[in-house]
Amino acid sequence: MSHLSSAVRLGVNVDHVATLRQARGTRYPDPVTAAAMAELAGADQITIHLREDRRHIQDRDVRILRETVQTRLNLEMAATAEMARIALETLPHMVTLVPEKREEQTTEGGLDVVRAQAMLADYIAPLRDAGIVVSMFIDPDVQQVQASRDIGADSVELHTGDYCEAPESEREALLGALLTAGECGHDLGLIVAAGHGLDYKNILPVVELGVFEEFNIGHSIVARAVFVGFDRAVGEMIALLV
Ligand code: PXP
Repeated sequence: MSHLSSAVRLGVNVDHVATLRQARGTRYPDPVTAAAMAELAGADQITIHLREDRRHIQDRDVRILRETVQTRLNLEMAATAEMARIALETLPHMVTLVPEKREEQTTEGGLDVVRAQAMLADYIAPLRDAGIVVSMFIDPDVQQVQASRDIGADSVELHTGDYCEAPESEREALLGALLTAGECGHDLGLIVAAGHGLDYKNILPVVELGVFEEFNIGHSIVARAVFVGFDRAVGEMIALLV
């Protein structure tokens, strides 16, 4: 049964437009332009990850996107003092807390909210007081969902990376974990999102679960946009969400 009362939202992550720019240290391609094009194509949200090492998104991007994004800006960040300061200065619509390791290629695994419960409760309080919607990027595990609720988060984003990378034989079980954790999130009154590793094929069974009201997708959309343009790449993803 679907828990959704309205259309599923697509957050387009434009980090990898910045990756291409940083590869040459040029001013182009600009993730700000990509964000505007994604919005024109129907994106409901723009997602960016300001990493500690600034390997793709830069502070300047966060500032400009905060001014120019017409929908909602979702800032993914590690729970550090520096990032809290930046979030409180720029006031994005939403902050998603993610674990971050310097040497990783991309985000590996979800945040361990159970283990860091007290620290994270203190960390998110000023963000929420400032009116920012706070989401926790966690593995699809009911204990992590419950802990996210207990510390006062508004939303959970379930990590779909394990499902996306799993061999076909293991996918059913991993979809089951996403469903159980997603339903738990709904029962606790949380906004339930999903993201990481999703592409134009593997997303279909995840959408069919009917528990996700938001998806944050980057790499596959930017990769397709190289060939077909942002308008079509975003539009084709939106068509899969209904
Ligand atoms: N959601 C979160 C929390 C992420 O950290 C990322 C990667 O930055 C994404 C979604 C997007 O993942 P992908 O680029 O694999 O679509």
